Amino acid sequence: MNLAVLVSGNGTNLQSIINAIDSKELQNTRICIVIADRDCYALERSIDRDINTFLVERNKDLSSEIDILLSSENIDLIILAGFLSILSANFCEKWKGKIINIHPSLLPKFGGKGMYGEKVHQAVLDAGETESGATVHYVTPEVDEGDIIVQGNFPVEKGDTVTDLQQKVMHTEQKILIEAINKISSGIKN
Ligand code: GRF
Repeated sequence: MNLAVLVSGNGTNLQSIINAIDSKELQNTRICIVIADRDCYALERSIDRDINTFLVERNKDLSSEIDILLSSENIDLIILAGFLSILSANFCEKWKGKIINIHPSLLPKFGGKGMYGEKVHQAVLDAGETESGATVHYVTPEVDEGDIIVQGNFPVEKGDTVTDLQQKVMHTEQKILIEAINKISSGIKN
């Protein structure tokens, strides 16, 4: 599988893909291209590994610029790994079934536009949830609404803070992202 990974942040999910390729947990898989929509640590992780890496501007042409970059590679799967920009409906339609996203909650709970990062964990705590988790799902033009591929959950303990939930989610995401890529590469859609 030829992967494209889109990033905006720390790149822990990008790193877990790199590690899984190194450890052969992901086989016959390579990251062909990493694209960031802002200067971020994920870019350093990518450049360090000599992966073809690009930084695109956050403007109205973002989706078409990404599309052009992807079209020069033979991409099987696009992974939004902490990518914060919203891709155009045209882009999502064109790559339908080939784009996945990782979201830090048990969708459909706590998803949608504006629900990212700490906001998700704060909402989980405010709602008094007793469990939370992460979801890998297909990307459609409607934010966080595509078919679910894999979910992983964990208990929310009394006294847990946003930081505690971030740690637990990170751990869960690393596991389910690799599981989802393996599932897709073996032909299981969801
Ligand atoms: C993750 O929590 C992911 O669920 C969300 O953004 C965060 C990205 O983290 N979409 P990183 O950049 O992979 O470290």
